[in-house]
Amino acid sequence: MKIAIFGGTGDLGRGLAINFAAAGHEIIVGSRSQERADQAAEGLKEALPDGTFIPHENVAAAEAAEIAIVSIPWEGIEATIPPMAGALAGKVVISVANALKFGKSGAIAIQGDELPATSCAHQIQDLAPEAKVVVAYNNLPAAGLQNQESLGADVLVCGKSKAAREQVIELTTTIPGTRALDAGPLANALIIEGMTAVIIQLNKRYGGEASLSISGLENDPPRPA
Ligand SMILES: NC(=O)c1ccc[n+]([C@@H]2O[C@H](COP(=O)([O-])OP(=O)(O)OC[C@H]3O[C@@H](n4cnc5c(N)ncnc54)[C@H](OP(=O)(O)O)[C@@H]3O)[C@@H](O)[C@H]2O)c1
Repeated sequence: MKIAIFGGTGDLGRGLAINFAAAGHEIIVGSRSQERADQAAEGLKEALPDGTFIPHENVAAAEAAEIAIVSIPWEGIEATIPPMAGALAGKVVISVANALKFGKSGAIAIQGDELPATSCAHQIQDLAPEAKVVVAYNNLPAAGLQNQESLGADVLVCGKSKAAREQVIELTTTIPGTRALDAGPLANALIIEGMTAVIIQLNKRYGGEASLSISGLENDPPRPA
């Protein structure tokens, strides 16, 4: 599968790239700058010599993608998505973006009038109306992914299209120790995005890098090793 990562030069993008490339996917490393994409792809190739990393500017990355991941700060969504909306039509587009602000009391989720849409994922869906937007990976730690640690994490997946959610759940089986669960429609995206502020507070209070783990399910899908 050809997976484009917009912001593949950043912390989370790099973590996802390494895991998906290790599973045999072809990674298109997207950036606003071809030079930064080249550098990031080179760094990824050093970290994982068997991986396939193709550097492109974001729009070219969207055109080449079968699946795309929006891994940029939420403030960049408004400028980044419109030029690639046509290229994303019909494709599964994963939003990992969280709208957070950092103050004296730590991380806080941004909500309401401060956001241009109900959530980052909704904003992407509004700007690329024919894309199949799914929210996933918002709560995973970038460093653990980059080190290919077995995270023991659950990834909550929301989106309008059940088929798109299923595709992302299947894709996630390639991340060690990480399981994806179908958490329903895109309406719940804001909750999942906002949970990241809570996780950052927990990390600050107790140390380490927390992630989510759901218990008590009767039909409990297995978590891959
Ligand atoms: N870090 C984590 O542990 C983590 C975990 C879960 C979710 N997230 C979410 O994932 C997203 C990416 O996080 P990150 O930590 O990887 O962020 P980051 O390193 O700050 O940024 C990722 C990349 O986004 C691009 N970018 C920066 N500002 C931009 C803008 N205004 N417009 C378009 N592109 C811009 C940059 O790439 P170029 O300059 O090369 O274009 C940058 O390398 C965020 O929304 C974050 O909330 C992060």
